[in-house]
Amino acid sequence: MRNSATAFAPATVGNVGIGFDILGHTVEAIGDRVQVTRTATPGVTIKAITGVATELPLETARNTAGQALKSLAEAQRLDFGFEMTIDKGIPLGSGLGGSAASAVAAVVAGNALLATPLSKLELLKFAMQGEAVASGSVHVDNIAPSLFGGLVLTVGIDHPRTKQIPVPPGIRAVLVHPHMFLSTKEARRILSKSVALSDLVWQCANLAGFISACYTNDLDMIRDAFEDVIVEPQRQALIPGFKAVKQAAMQNGALGCSISGAGPTTFAWCLAADAERIQAAMVSAFGAHGLESDHWISAIEATGARVID
Ligand code: HSE
Repeated sequence: MRNSATAFAPATVGNVGIGFDILGHTVEAIGDRVQVTRTATPGVTIKAITGVATELPLETARNTAGQALKSLAEAQRLDFGFEMTIDKGIPLGSGLGGSAASAVAAVVAGNALLATPLSKLELLKFAMQGEAVASGSVHVDNIAPSLFGGLVLTVGIDHPRTKQIPVPPGIRAVLVHPHMFLSTKEARRILSKSVALSDLVWQCANLAGFISACYTNDLDMIRDAFEDVIVEPQRQALIPGFKAVKQAAMQNGALGCSISGAGPTTFAWCLAADAERIQAAMVSAFGAHGLESDHWISAIEATGARVID
């Protein structure tokens, strides 16, 4: 049996605009790595946090990766323990699913050290316990794609079922992360608890249209359906320049543009040939609002978290 394993879990775009809390996709260009080593004493400890975000709690129950692996170890009643080192590749408060990726990488690495490893579906619920520490609520739109890979829809919380949705060939996601911090808890707190029936109907139509268009490679339908009428209008004021950035993406041929997860990263879907131009326009629009940014262009590959060492 292995004594140590390192897992990589990719960043994710939560919501994908129209699927608040239930739809997300991977961004393979960046991610978190967690190394887990067996210890003789039961329990989970965090040895170190390195990388682009080190100001995170080392206390297991307050750390997303720590809590995720702790819940796995307790459910399995393990007679040994785990020590972990977390290497953050995803900036904090960026809207790129950093807390989810750490939780996913932790359970995937820990799972590799079990005598009888669990399935990814079984790991999902433990990773969800970790994500809840960071965002204050259980949601799966970052966890599920980071774990399974690609564009993933999740139905249910207590007994979640996931579905990998095919992405039409040639699609790229352009991600632009302006240099500011946005708290997921705060971006959730400001949301209205009620929704107009007409908006609900519109959003349901868009989500259903988007997913069916992905199955049928219908890019016109994707473009028409790619509009979040509920959450984006409430959150856009939290991101300086968001409207201009979205306009820049759409004017340059994007199929859609919205907030990645809770933001401030803003993403666009487009064809590969348009990606560089759209990225430059989005970066420039954030720049005009005084924000420097990091940026990535990513295919949406159906490769999720995996053991890398
Ligand atoms: N679906 C979540 C939200 C993602 O938008 O609040 C953030 O973790």
